[in-house]
Amino acid sequence: MKIDLLSPSSFSAGHPFEQYRWLRDNAPVHWHAELDGPGFWAVTRHRDVHAVDRDHGAFSSEPTIMIQDPLAGQEAQFGNYKMMLMMDPPQHTAYRKLIRAEFAHGPADALAPRLRELATEIVDRVIERGACDFVQDVAGEMPSFVIAELMGLPRDDGRELYKLTEIIHTSPEALPEGAGLSAVAKMFEYGQGVIKEKRARPANDLATKLLEAEVDGKRLDDIEFLLFFLLLVDAGGDTTRNLLSGGLIALLENPSELAWLKADMPQRLAPAREELLRWCTPVVYMRRTARHDTEIAGQPIKQGQKVVMYFGAANRDADKFAEPDCLRLSRAPNEHIAFGNGPHVCLGQHIARIEIDALLREVLERLEGLALAGAPEWLPSNFISGPKHLPVRFRPAKRRSR
Ligand code: HEM
Repeated sequence: MKIDLLSPSSFSAGHPFEQYRWLRDNAPVHWHAELDGPGFWAVTRHRDVHAVDRDHGAFSSEPTIMIQDPLAGQEAQFGNYKMMLMMDPPQHTAYRKLIRAEFAHGPADALAPRLRELATEIVDRVIERGACDFVQDVAGEMPSFVIAELMGLPRDDGRELYKLTEIIHTSPEALPEGAGLSAVAKMFEYGQGVIKEKRARPANDLATKLLEAEVDGKRLDDIEFLLFFLLLVDAGGDTTRNLLSGGLIALLENPSELAWLKADMPQRLAPAREELLRWCTPVVYMRRTARHDTEIAGQPIKQGQKVVMYFGAANRDADKFAEPDCLRLSRAPNEHIAFGNGPHVCLGQHIARIEIDALLREVLERLEGLALAGAPEWLPSNFISGPKHLPVRFRPAKRRSR
């Protein structure tokens, strides 16, 4: 079996599940070559991914969680600065604490009524047309609104930031030269504007809270704020969108499962959403770096080597999930690892679940006769998996709000 987990073409129709299966069965901790780098260990079994993600003593998130560092060469601009996602405890713990409360169950639940209204508006905007690009017109709208809402930004700006996120998550090979860095630069330029605006007019939002936050008695400086801003915009954008769009494809391809869900949506949405998270696994991987010589499942790992956890492979591991390649919306328990685990476990997971439930319910209840109207086009990325365009049709109907 030819193993290539780097080329975006391996991800051009979703996760490379055949490669994952071969790896789990034959080389669960596999040495993968890199054209422009030293190579890395690809970890594909659920129990190993789970263990590596929790063991920050052996596996560091520094210097980066990408296989190749997207900010390499930018040291002049960023010096020793890094995002929370790329920190280890105890530094990571101190930064995560700054915004942990906003993402806890209570505040996330409090967003639910507002997110249901948003879902109604999003569906209203397409329902009379009878056809749309589900990714761009429906699924992408939700996370871009949510980030704007949390940060206290105009909604249309949320949409622009989300477009930049999509570029940042596309593999550089699939982009014009320099496009990724230019998207990061634009994001920072926008963030500078947010700093000015929120310092002049503080408000009850996450951006203001971050500007007023202190670590070790010191306020975040502009670069620290910008890296937080980039992380929040990036992490919550196309992940949720891809779950919604990839999830819709899975539902339409499994009509009996869809019928089961629709028969009792209030009761069945929660297990269904967890199975869609397992099925789609929007984040392909997170990288760690061995702090010292160690081993994974008996495979010796040398200090400094890159170790890459493949969440989509772990989520199809037959040792963990019965019939892993069957979509079973009623699956319970469902210990998928789509949000990671350990100290970096997705901070936005409660909000993501509320976004997914609000939009899926609205779409499935209101867009009658929903069907694929063409082949999906997938994001050419080895980091984030999901469709970029998804033509769908449905019976035109009336809007609910004006
Ligand atoms: C379906 C949607 C989502 C998926 C699949 C997802 C997945 C992930 C994964 C796999 C990680 C890394 C976990 C690890 O290393 O163990 C992560 C981290 C993170 N996610 Fe999410 N995420 C989603 C939505 C969101 C949303 C909506 C937000 C915020 C609004 C968000 C904010 C974050 C943040 C801030 C981190 C970094 C946490 C840290 O370093 O401590 N995510 N997410």
